[in-house]
Amino acid sequence: MSTTNSMNRRNWLKTTALFTGGLTMLPPAISRLQAAPVAPVASNSTAYANDFAIGPKLPANLKARLFANENPFGPSPNAKKAIMDSMLTSYQYPIMMIPELEAKICAHEGITADMLMISSGSSPLLLGTAVSLLRDGGNVVTAETTYDDLPTRCEKVNAKWIKVPLTKDYTHDLDAMEKAITPDTKLVYVCNPNNPTGTIVDKDKLKAFCERVSQKTTVFVDEAYIDYLPDADDTTLMSSVKKGHNIIVARTFSKVYGLAGLRIGYIVAQPATIAKMQPHTACSWAVLSAPAISGALASYQDKPYIQETVKKTAESRQFLYDTLKAEGYSYIPSHTNFVMFPLKMDGERFTEEMMKRGVGLRNWKMNDQHWCRISIGRMDEMQAFAAAFKELS
Ligand SMILES: Cc1ncc(COP(=O)(O)O)c(C=O)c1O
Repeated sequence: MSTTNSMNRRNWLKTTALFTGGLTMLPPAISRLQAAPVAPVASNSTAYANDFAIGPKLPANLKARLFANENPFGPSPNAKKAIMDSMLTSYQYPIMMIPELEAKICAHEGITADMLMISSGSSPLLLGTAVSLLRDGGNVVTAETTYDDLPTRCEKVNAKWIKVPLTKDYTHDLDAMEKAITPDTKLVYVCNPNNPTGTIVDKDKLKAFCERVSQKTTVFVDEAYIDYLPDADDTTLMSSVKKGHNIIVARTFSKVYGLAGLRIGYIVAQPATIAKMQPHTACSWAVLSAPAISGALASYQDKPYIQETVKKTAESRQFLYDTLKAEGYSYIPSHTNFVMFPLKMDGERFTEEMMKRGVGLRNWKMNDQHWCRISIGRMDEMQAFAAAFKELS
């Protein structure tokens, strides 16, 4: 372990000890799990940092962690307790827990187990889809700009990526996407709400599009942020999958449920699609941990906490809007826990200057314009952003 790593780990233990003062009834290793509202910065040059395009710039004095679209309010108290309790039996493979989680998700979604695949977050499922459906070539159609994990994986297996520009109001251009489909199209990927723009598509139009297009090719609807919508139940494509359409719907516990660090998510699709993906996708007991399963199971009982999280996110988001307006900036109205706004300077320089001030966020180039994508944090984080932003704007 490098000096930096061991130093940070020591600091982390110190920080967690501060937060766990009242938890002396629990074994020390477990009580430490209660802690860390702001996670430690492990290293400046990890693959993780590179994955998040924040490179070696993370400051040691991070005041606001606004680059990864996490839920800064964390998991619910029930989920935290379930996670800690599960540590005591974590020496066992979670063999018996998996059917319980499958049954819970199946009951929640109204599906059968052969339509479900659970993995350590939705990321392995995006990769599994790319490998399973595009490894023999063909193309994937997506919006540009959108979450690029799946299409990037498709390119890695030598498939072609067809990018369809967003509309003027930064939503998916479904008509143009449909026109872009060719006889070689193996997959159409729709991210709704879209990352990084935070926009949504009209739900009736999306449903009609997915049901029509899925007669020609597989449609993947990434619903990572759907729980932030007031009408999530009407917006999800789950009912279309249940009607038998060739659609894959992806969900994750990383966002509103606050379990990003535990890694758990799932897809729902036709049994034949799940069977096709099985040999190429890391899933089930091979990748699921007991704490992750316990956290996910408990989260289902926590509707009020989730509603509170969505409300606090909206308050922080409004504070951000007000700050941007006061400084003479516009933004794309967001339906999620992140917001994109156009910058008046080079994006790289902006993120570097903000990082120097302890605020981590990300920049994008879209339509020849530099943009910032800022995740919605707790109010103290948004205030740290506002203070740093006022020095630069
Ligand atoms: C749209 C979208 N899909 C999928 C993911 C992957 O999330 P996870 O692997 O944590 O489930 C993310 C992560 O930010 C995302 O933004």
